[in-house]
Amino acid sequence: MSEKNYSPIGIDLEKDKAYSWCTCSHSSNQPFCDGSHRAQNATPPMRFTVEEDKKAFLCTCKKTSNPPYCDGSHNK
Ligand code: FES
Repeated sequence: MSEKNYSPIGIDLEKDKAYSWCTCSHSSNQPFCDGSHRAQNATPPMRFTVEEDKKAFLCTCKKTSNPPYCDGSHNK
């Protein structure tokens, strides 16, 4: 059985584009929401935008204190 990989995912984020970061862990399109939270009756996604184009590492373990960004919590 393979262990789930909770490493952050580097994404090139675009200025003013609307993103939906998965908060529930059920999405098959991490780190983004794919709508699976509805069937799971889980928490909805966190919507966010960025003010400039930038690369960021988005959390997939969902333990970050700075969502949607990785804060290293997956290593704790
Ligand atoms: S699938 Fe996780 S928040 Fe939508």
